[in-house]
Amino acid sequence: MSLIQINLHNKAFTNDGRFYLVRRVEQRVEVIDATCSHRNGPLIYGEVSSSTPEIIKCPWHKSITSKKVLCNKIVPVIRIENDLLIILKKIDFRILNYGITSL
Ligand code: FES
Repeated sequence: MSLIQINLHNKAFTNDGRFYLVRRVEQRVEVIDATCSHRNGPLIYGEVSSSTPEIIKCPWHKSITSKKVLCNKIVPVIRIENDLLIILKKIDFRILNYGITSL
């Protein structure tokens, strides 16, 4: 099984039909599964509302996901200096240049 390795400064990636966002929280780096639960849309390109509680609107069919729920979908990672080793089987992996930054 090959795992995924990315640079710490990458913002987003896709793998096996799902979308992932690299999120910085104070001194930590987290990877969250930002795939819409409706039909696997890319919440990494979602529209973030500043309502309370904060919500993300999926760009495909406009379903709404709470920021709190999304940010709890953390994927296990191992940080080695400037690299992240992500515990996912590598299938159709691609780095994406953009992902919402306000999560
Ligand atoms: S895939 Fe997100 S609303 Fe349909």
